[in-house]
This record gives sequence, structure tokens and C-alpha cells, in this order.
Amino acid sequence: MASITSLPVRAGAGAAARGGRAAAGGSTTQLLSADALVLGGVTRVFGALRAVDDVSFTVRAGQKYAVLGSNGAGKTTLFNAITGDHLPSAGRILFFGEDITTLPPHERIRKGLRRTYQSSLLFRDLTVRDNLFLAVRGVANGRFSWRRAGRGHPSTRATQDLLERTRLTHIADERVANLAHGQQRQLEIGMALAGAPRLILFDEPAAGLSPAERRELVALLRSLPEHMSFVLIEHDLDIALRVVERVTVMHNGRVLKTGTPDEIENDAQVHAIYMGGHA
Ligand SMILES: Nc1ncnc2c1ncn2[C@@H]1O[C@H](COP(=O)(O)OP(=O)(O)OP(=O)(O)O)[C@@H](O)[C@H]1O
Ligand SMILES: [Mg+2]
Repeated sequence: MASITSLPVRAGAGAAARGGRAAAGGSTTQLLSADALVLGGVTRVFGALRAVDDVSFTVRAGQKYAVLGSNGAGKTTLFNAITGDHLPSAGRILFFGEDITTLPPHERIRKGLRRTYQSSLLFRDLTVRDNLFLAVRGVANGRFSWRRAGRGHPSTRATQDLLERTRLTHIADERVANLAHGQQRQLEIGMALAGAPRLILFDEPAAGLSPAERRELVALLRSLPEHMSFVLIEHDLDIALRVVERVTVMHNGRVLKTGTPDEIENDAQVHAIYMGGHA
């Protein structure tokens, strides 16, 4: 499987617009598109409702990012705009410097964008292994085949790798319907990891998890490779603020505040509007 670091990175429109910064920690000889995701004035209306209203922020390559906000703040709608599930009504989305605002979802996936959903989209009658195998095949180039590939096949090896990374090897041959809720959410993350993603959007992966399952989730999120970016929607601040470097808080479709976890935790306005309701 191609390593994400071997993928060509373009100093495209995003980096140029921001002054073509060098990669973090980087030498001046290597100009990279250091921004994984640039949102510029992203807006999505449903009739009279501005569910996402002029949202702008940037996720650096390799950065772990959280989007917080109370119910109905527009977080999932923003994810839908980024993935192309619902096109934005206005604004611009750059992915590693490339304008993807109107690309269909499968082309964004090909470029290394992944997501998990707020409600599970697993194949419940298939095994854990087969779900991961389908995810691997789904993002692989070439023709799809239902036939199980042999042991040495790259897809089989990639499936085994995902089983190990998500610590699901011991239940690889279990039907998904028999899994605990936390294991299902771990499997969803495993499926999003198929095929060298560059940025993953996680929509409330901790919802409904027990404290022990939450610890597993935090460990899994922390174990993701340094070069991989993610954006996490999470109501549990203990999780969100522990695993990310930067946070945007949304309120009524708009950006209320963007900052470091410390800045967000200590911001009076954020406290009043958001955290107050989640004490
Ligand atoms: N397809 C749709 N048609 C009409 N309105 C929608 C649609 N999707 C979302 N909305 C509305 O947009 C607003 C934002 O919804 P969204 O699901 O993005 O919020 P959220 O921040 O993800 O909330 P939650 O924390 O509850 O998941 C809500 O008022 C919701 O009712
Ligand atoms: Mg949501």
C-alpha cells in the first residue's frame, strides 16, 4: 500500500493563497501544501435555515482537529459539505491545495478523504474481517470482486493490518451484529483507515460508549500516524480536548471560536454558550 508520505503533495491554490508556507518543521527547500483542509466561507442552507453559515478554518497536514458545538450547531452538515454528501450552497473547500468544492464524493475518497457517520453503516450480517475487506476493496484501484483474495494478496494483507491496528483480530470472524457497540465503532474507524487516508472526519465516534470503550477509542485516535490529519466531532470534552491540537466551536451554524484546547477550555463565551450546557 502506498504510504501517505510518498504521495505527491502539491503547493497548490491553498498553500499559495496562504503564502505558500513550508511544511511544519520543514526546510525551506521543500515547499509543500501544508494545509490538509481549507474551508473558506462554507455555507449550507436548507430553505430559510443557514445550517452552516460562512464557516472558515484550516486543518494543517498531520493536525488533529476537533469541531465542537451543541446539538444542531451544524457540525454534521459541515462534514457533509466537506465529503460532498451534500454540496455547499456557497464557499470553497481546498484539500491539500486542490479545490474539491464540487467534486463527487467518490473522487474525494480517491484523493484520500474519509469519514465515519454518526449512525452506523456497517454490514451487520458479515464478519468484522469481511467488513474491513470490503472497505479495502472499495478504495482500491481495479475491478471489484466478491471472491476472497488469497493469503498473499495485498487486499488480504491490508485487511489483516487494519484488524491489528484497530485491535479487532480476536473477533475477526465474528458477525458484526454480535459485537458490542464500542467494537462496532472501532470497526467503523478501521474501515475509514482503509487505503492510506490523508484526512479522516470522525462524526461522534464516542457516542454511546462505556468509559472503558472510551479509553480504547482515545488510545486508537492517539495511535494514528503523525502524518494523518483528522477532524473529530465530539460532545465529550474530555476526549476531544485530550486528542486534538486545535478546536473550532460552532454555534447556530457559525464559528464561535477557534483555538487551542487550552484557549477553548478557558474562553468565557464558549463556556457560557457551549460548555455550560454540557457540565
Ligand atoms: N437534510 C436536511 N434538511 C433540512 N434541515 C437539515 C438537514 N440536515 C440538517 N438539517 C438541520 O440543520 C441544522 C444542523 O444540523 P446538523 O445535523 O448539522 O447539526 P449537528 O451539529 O451535527 O447536531 P448533533 O450534535 O445533534 O449531531 C439542524 O437544525 C438540522 O435540523
Ligand atoms: Mg451531527
